Amino acid sequence: MMLDTYLNQVIQGDCLDTLRTLPTDSIDVTFADPPFNLKKKYHTVHDSLEMQDYLAWCESWITEMVRITKPSGSILVHNIPRWLTYYSAMLNRMADFKHWIAWDAPTAPMGKTLQPSHYGILFYAKDARQQQFFEIRYPHKRCRKCGYLLKDYGGKKASLHPFGPLVSDVWTDIHRVKHNKYRDQHPCQLPIHLLERVILMTTEAGDVVLDPFLGTGTTALAAQRLGRAFIGLEIDPTYASIARQKLAHETTRSRIGAVWVSLFLDAVVTLRDKDWPMLSPFYAIPDPIQAIDHTAISRESGSLPVCTTHTEQNGYAQEDLFVEE
Ligand SMILES: C[S@@+](CC[C@H](N)C(=O)[O-])C[C@H]1O[C@@H](n2cnc3c(N)ncnc32)[C@H](O)[C@@H]1O
Repeated sequence: MMLDTYLNQVIQGDCLDTLRTLPTDSIDVTFADPPFNLKKKYHTVHDSLEMQDYLAWCESWITEMVRITKPSGSILVHNIPRWLTYYSAMLNRMADFKHWIAWDAPTAPMGKTLQPSHYGILFYAKDARQQQFFEIRYPHKRCRKCGYLLKDYGGKKASLHPFGPLVSDVWTDIHRVKHNKYRDQHPCQLPIHLLERVILMTTEAGDVVLDPFLGTGTTALAAQRLGRAFIGLEIDPTYASIARQKLAHETTRSRIGAVWVSLFLDAVVTLRDKDWPMLSPFYAIPDPIQAIDHTAISRESGSLPVCTTHTEQNGYAQEDLFVEE
């Protein structure tokens, strides 16, 4: 089957049926956010298999994800830590481990345990020697009231990056879709900025991103906003239809001039390190740089190139970038 027929399509059906028809080594990034086997109320799928059945099913789509990913490509899987421990044993046999990304977000209490407070995103390279990867940055976190940097950099302020730190493997600045008016009728829609970060970190414009559990379309929407191609698979006709409608109405291209960035309310929330030299001329940067402690960089509106920003807010509030730790 030619890949072209699938590009920029939401394909409704069992993901395994489609995955098995896709060519080996053909997709730049595969990202999966599968059902967690926690009895969630999806329309079509009964999210409560016996553990061994669930894991055997997971191994079959993980194997397909790795097969179709290019040698330069990445494989990412989002789930609760419990299942990721099994997934990593599977993936370690097929691909090269890069990171366990901890996404700091409250999860459901599970009885007599520590309160679960992160989801994991397993990040694998099909071949670590060939993998395409871009370092990414997020804005410095500041005190909401006083505007000062939250982190004490001591005597190192002179060497701070004006935009913000490199993103680590703990993501604390991306929040769940909070407000119902921004949520789709889906029990576990991911925030679009999470996927935009994944896509900026692993792809170039024009690359292809595939999500076998598309839900209401977050991965596809993020890819489209960032000038990437997508293939979305979703078993539930209602979710597939919501995803298609959202994609059809989305006109946003998330970039400043020629640079693709993740934007929220006109503010950049993730950028690639290598793109900063192209963006920095459009920012007023404190001089001396140590003043960044209390003075944030700001975009100089008069000198901005064309910038098309998000039309929707996706449930975020501006304060989300200023969370006090
Ligand atoms: C955790 S949700 C994904 C949510 C998605 N990341 C979003 O932001 O909307 C898992 C999705 O997988 C779908 N699904 C379950 N089994 C599937 C299968 N065999 N093939 C394709 N999709 C499936 C469910 O209907 C559900 O929408």
